[in-house]
Amino acid sequence: MSLELLNESKVIICLGTGGVGKTTTAAALGYMAAKAGRSVCVVTIDPAKRLADAMGVGELENTPKRIETSSNLDLWAVMLDANSTFDELVQRFATSPEQMEKIFHNSIYQNLTENLSGTQEYMAMEKLHELASDQRFDLLVVDTPPARNAIEFLNAPKRLIGFLENRFFRLLISPSQSVFRPVTIATRMLLRTISKVVGSQVVSDAAEFFQAFEGMEAGFKERASEVQDLLAQKSTSFVLVTGTHKDTVDEALYFASRLGEFDLEVELVISNRITPDFGEANDDGNQNLPGEIRENLDYLTKLRSAELGELSRLALIVDSGKHILVPQLSHDIGSLCEIQEIGEVLIDSKSKFVNSVVP
Ligand SMILES: Nc1ncnc2c1ncn2[C@@H]1O[C@H](COP(=O)(O)OP(=O)(O)OP(=O)(O)O)[C@@H](O)[C@H]1O
Ligand SMILES: [Mg+2]
Repeated sequence: MSLELLNESKVIICLGTGGVGKTTTAAALGYMAAKAGRSVCVVTIDPAKRLADAMGVGELENTPKRIETSSNLDLWAVMLDANSTFDELVQRFATSPEQMEKIFHNSIYQNLTENLSGTQEYMAMEKLHELASDQRFDLLVVDTPPARNAIEFLNAPKRLIGFLENRFFRLLISPSQSVFRPVTIATRMLLRTISKVVGSQVVSDAAEFFQAFEGMEAGFKERASEVQDLLAQKSTSFVLVTGTHKDTVDEALYFASRLGEFDLEVELVISNRITPDFGEANDDGNQNLPGEIRENLDYLTKLRSAELGELSRLALIVDSGKHILVPQLSHDIGSLCEIQEIGEVLIDSKSKFVNSVVP
């Protein structure tokens, strides 16, 4: 990979299925960009504490923490806490102290992450907005949570805008507005039906919850549409991380097609944990090696070749120059030194792993 992606992007988003190495990759890309002189914040929206573990740093919090490095890099990391992010938003944008109190005391608000589906994604979006306007950073590298719901994060701005424009939502936040009167009876009936199913307390708490936000929703909508623009900008790059197994390649193809639906392109594919290349056999077919070692070598060579065959399907997404192979290391990644090891493979364009997937 040339340094171009690291030098020119303002946001890099790492996507991929569970366990393939998104967190490791995000940390490694962030590290190498910081090494190239940029001010970088690695953002994890995965509630698991993997980023802190991968970088070998203690706890990460909802506010960026500077990572101590021997060469004093401008490298930061932050772990999204959806509830705290929401609290900060309420504190910042509530129109009065009374409104703030009302929101904080609402029972739905108090159990937000369980009560409102998508809260994690909405708050990730808000966090991204906040960090993108933070002058301290010129690159954000985003590590997304496992599995398909990572894509929901991309959809969050659109869904939130849709939700805030929804007529029913508008009725809940301002039921007295005359413009909505003609449907009030229908709405009451609907509310009554919902009450029967989920209990009237839930409905009145929900109504109170939405009413409490009166006046704040315009800000949510504005920021959501700014994040939507940010995701579509040229300086935002999407990096797909895959493993070498069939299912992770299938998932990568799925992610690429979903990104396509948002008119977004994959900038780079990183296939992680490929069996290393142990080189050609000697002229004598490695006959000089002890039997067991020769068998192992033979097995690993075949395994690598099968993996390369599987990975060649990714040529549908990017050409080989944008497809990087990262070898399986003999150890886990739990320190900045190991992150750097992965990072060096990523940017070493002369690496024998690069371009070896040419079909
Ligand atoms: N190239 C590699 N060689 C050896 N181990 C690796 C390599 N890449 C990642 N790992 C290890 O694989 C595990 C999963 O990596 P990581 O946490 O980065 O994946 P992830 O895609 O973020 O997972 P999740 O989907 O659960 O968030 C970790 O224990 C990590 O140390
Ligand atoms: Mg992860």
